[in-house]
Amino acid sequence: MERKIIQISDIHFGEKTFSHDLKYNILKQMESENPDLIVVSGDLTTHGYLQEYEDALTFLDELKTITSTYTIPGNHDARNVGLIHFEKLIGHRKFVHVDKNGGLAIIGLDSSEPDINDGQIGVDQLDWVKTQLDRIPSDLCKIVTFHHHLLPIPQTGRERNILLDSGDLLRVFSDYGVDFVLNGHKHVPNVWMIEKMVTLNSGTATTRKLRGNTQASYNQLLINEDKIIVNLVNSQSGYKKEMANYSVKVDGSEYLICSYCHNSLHSV
Ligand SMILES: [Fe+2]
Ligand SMILES: [Fe+2]
Repeated sequence: MERKIIQISDIHFGEKTFSHDLKYNILKQMESENPDLIVVSGDLTTHGYLQEYEDALTFLDELKTITSTYTIPGNHDARNVGLIHFEKLIGHRKFVHVDKNGGLAIIGLDSSEPDINDGQIGVDQLDWVKTQLDRIPSDLCKIVTFHHHLLPIPQTGRERNILLDSGDLLRVFSDYGVDFVLNGHKHVPNVWMIEKMVTLNSGTATTRKLRGNTQASYNQLLINEDKIIVNLVNSQSGYKKEMANYSVKVDGSEYLICSYCHNSLHSV
C-alpha cells in the first residue's frame, strides 16, 4: 500500500508576493493527486493579523474537502498576538493523530515564539511528545511536524533560526523511532536523512519570497513497503522533480539505502 503525503508550507497570506494563481493551482493539483494526508507546516500568515488568518482558513477548508489536512503555526503566525487567532480559527497549536487503518501517526508541535524569528520546542512540549510517541504502536509510521527546521539547510545564508533545542529533539526522535520530520521556515526545499529519520524541508508554496533560483513549491512524500520517494513539486506547473529515493531492505537487515549514492550508512 502506497501512502501519499503532501507537505505544504509558508503560504503567507498577507505577503505582497502572495499569488492567488499559485493557490488556485495547488488546489487543482491536490484534487488530481488525491493524497492520503496534507500537512501545512506553518507561516500561514505574514503578520498574524485576523484577516490573514481568515483567508488562510478558507484555503485550509478547501484542502480539507479533498483530504485530511493538519496545520501547525510558524513564527509569522505568532506575530502581533496572532496565536489567539490560530487557536480560534485553525485549531490546537499541537496535536496527535493516530490512523491505525492508514498505518501512520502524525504529531504536530508549535516551535514559534511571540514576535521573534527564533524557535524552540521547549521542555513541556518535549515531555508531551515523548508521552505521545510512547503510546503510538511500533508498527505505525511516525511523522512529526513543526515549523522551524531541525537541521541546517544549504543555500540559506548564515544559519540563525535553527531550533534552540534541536539536539534534544534529535535525541528523542532517534530514541523513539520517528520516521519522518516535516519542517518549513527557510523557503528552501531540502531532504536530509539522519539516524533513522528522513527530514523534509518544504519551500514556500504560494509566494515569490524566494532565495536564489528556487521556485514556489511543495513536497510530495511517497511511502511504500520497499521504497521511499520524495518529490519536489513546482506550484506553478505541477512539474515533479525527484529529491530523494531510498530503497528499504525488508529481508531482516532493515537498511535504508539512498538510490543515488548507495550509501549503506543510511541504516535504520
Ligand atoms: Fe515563511
Ligand atoms: Fe518562518
